[in-house]
Amino acid sequence: MKERVDAILRRNQGEYLESLLPPRDALLEEMEKFADENNHPIADPEVTQLMRTIVRMKRPRRILEVGTNIGYSVIVLGRESDSEAVIETIEIDHNTLTTAKRFVSEAQLPCRVVFHEGAALDVIPRLTGPFDFVFIDCVKTEYGDYLDALLPKVARDAVIVCDNLLWKGQVAAGTHDGPTDALRAFNKRISNDPRLLTIILPLGDGTGISVVV
Ligand SMILES: C[S@@+](CC[C@H](N)C(=O)[O-])C[C@H]1O[C@@H](n2cnc3c(N)ncnc32)[C@H](O)[C@@H]1O
Repeated sequence: MKERVDAILRRNQGEYLESLLPPRDALLEEMEKFADENNHPIADPEVTQLMRTIVRMKRPRRILEVGTNIGYSVIVLGRESDSEAVIETIEIDHNTLTTAKRFVSEAQLPCRVVFHEGAALDVIPRLTGPFDFVFIDCVKTEYGDYLDALLPKVARDAVIVCDNLLWKGQVAAGTHDGPTDALRAFNKRISNDPRLLTIILPLGDGTGISVVV
């Protein structure tokens, strides 16, 4: 979730683009309210709208999300998928995962959802894949490690979406702290890795789209 509407874009641009987003349905609205009231960092609606369009274009069958939280993105991705798709998602916090399971059950998605409880870096090595769509939205200092663990488990042409790559505007501003430095190094890496074709967009808190080539 971006920190302010003008952390990345100028305020009038951000507000205008937000005004064009389609309204969310009752369940997603309830989840946005729940997330806001309980300090849960779910993805921005413009980022989920981007993922909806990619899922519609690509029709992935094996989706992996790193960082479930309350299941908001799972529901967004699941609503664009069909009964042949499987979404696997990883969350370290037991209570948060229980909440996610409740919301996802309420959503009655057409696809199967597999929840993994544990630290992403412990869980990823146990997954088989191959995944054709990955959403990385977890510990910012671990993005490079997630990528290392995931690259052997993604299909050619898989799409990897990464959230928060401009991190409150701090990455470009030259701020130095753990997550900001890690994300700056990660952005450089995915922009230069010959196995990836990457664009980083000033969308939400900075969104990366990489295609595995
Ligand atoms: C930004 S939230 C994910 C939001 C979710 N993708 C969405 O848009 O609905 C990140 C989640 O990762 C979880 N998390 C933190 N450290 C983790 C770890 N090492 N392994 C797995 N999950 C972790 C947090 O508890 C949090 O719920």
